[in-house]
Amino acid sequence: MKTDRILVTGGTGYIGSHTVVELQQAGYNVVIIDNLSNSNRDVLDGIERITGIRPDFIEADCTDMNALSDLFNQYPDISGIINFAASKAVGESIEKPILYYRNNLNTLMNLLDLMPQHGVKGIVFSSSCTVYGEPDENPVTEAAPIKVATSPYGNTKQICEEIIHDVVRSGAPIKSVILRYFNPVGAHPSAEIGELPNGVPQNLIPYLTQTAIGIRKELSVFGDDYDTPDGSCIRDFINVVDLAKAHVIAVERMLQDKCIENVETFNLGTGIGLSVKELIAAFERATSVKVPHKIVGRRAGDIEKVWANPQYANDVLGWKATASIDDTMRSAWAWQCKLRERGIM
Ligand code: UD1
Repeated sequence: MKTDRILVTGGTGYIGSHTVVELQQAGYNVVIIDNLSNSNRDVLDGIERITGIRPDFIEADCTDMNALSDLFNQYPDISGIINFAASKAVGESIEKPILYYRNNLNTLMNLLDLMPQHGVKGIVFSSSCTVYGEPDENPVTEAAPIKVATSPYGNTKQICEEIIHDVVRSGAPIKSVILRYFNPVGAHPSAEIGELPNGVPQNLIPYLTQTAIGIRKELSVFGDDYDTPDGSCIRDFINVVDLAKAHVIAVERMLQDKCIENVETFNLGTGIGLSVKELIAAFERATSVKVPHKIVGRRAGDIEKVWANPQYANDVLGWKATASIDDTMRSAWAWQCKLRERGIM
C-alpha cells in the first residue's frame, strides 16, 4: 500500500468510479467526495466487489468550501486530487448556464485555493475534446486551436483550463495534468460498475444499449448527410478503463515530480475515428444483438468529425488505449444486462 491518498471528486460517477478502481489496484488510498447528483451510493459496493476495498466516501458538494476544508483536515494525507466533479450535459447547460458555471468553476477554484495550505501537490483535471470545437484537421493534436465554445458546458472546460494555467502561473506550488477526453464508452469488464444515466440518455452508447435491451424503441442516428464516408458523424470512442488508467499515470507523474511543465495537457483517445453507423455495426457484430435504428435530422451543435492524435500521451505518459472496440461494446452490453438483472433498468 502506498502512503499517498488521492482525493477523487465525483468518484461515484462514470469515469470517476472506474478511476477509483484503478487507483486502488495500483495501491493508492482513496477518498471520494460526491454530492450524488448524478450517481448513487451503490457504486461503492461495485468498487468494493472489484477491488476488495471500500473507498472512504464523503457525501458533500465541492462548491461547499467548508465541507472541502473539513475533508482536507480529516484527511491530512491527501497528496493529489483527480477532479471529476462537474455537470456534463451539453443540452442542459444551454438551459441552465448558471448551474454549469457555478458547479464547474467553483469546484475547481475551491480545490485550487485549498491545495497549497494542505500540502496537496497536484490536480488532474477532466477536460474534453469539446475545446477543439469542429477541428480544422483530424486527427487532433494538443496544439490545435481552441475554438469558441458552442455551449456553457464546453465553455466551462475552456475556462477551467485557463484558471489552472493562471493559478499555476501566479506561483502556486502545485502541478496539474489536464486530460482532454474524446468519447469515453464501455464499462468495467466485471460489469460491477458502468455508466448509469439519469432519465433518457443523451449520449450515444447508453441510448444504444437501452434500445438493444428494449427500454427504448429505436435509436435515432442524428444525420447521415455529413461530409464523412457514410454520412454519419465520426468520433473517437475510448474505453473507460483505458481512460481510467491514464489518470493513475498522471497522478504518479505529479507525485513523483516527473512533469516536464507545471501544467501538462494530453489528448486521451484511441487515434481511430469511427462513425456512428460503424459503431452500431460494431455493437451488433460484437454482441450478436440487433439495434433498431433510423436516420433522423442532425442534432444542433454536433461536431461533424473529431478524433485524437494520442501520440503525445503515448510517448510522454507511456500510455496507450488498448481495448478493442468489440470488447468495449461487449462490456457496455454486459453492464446493461447487469442493470436489468438487478432490476434497475
Ligand atoms: C458530447 C460533448 C462532449 C461531452 C460529451 C459528454 C460536444 C461537441 N461534445 O459529446 O464534450 O464530453 O457529450 O456528455 O459538445 N448520437 C446519435 N444518436 C443519439 C445520441 C448520439 O446519433 O441518440 C450521435 C451524435 O450525433 C454524435 C455521436 O452520436 O455524432 C456521439 O454523441 P454523444 O455520445 O452525445 O457525444 P458527443 O456529442 O460527441
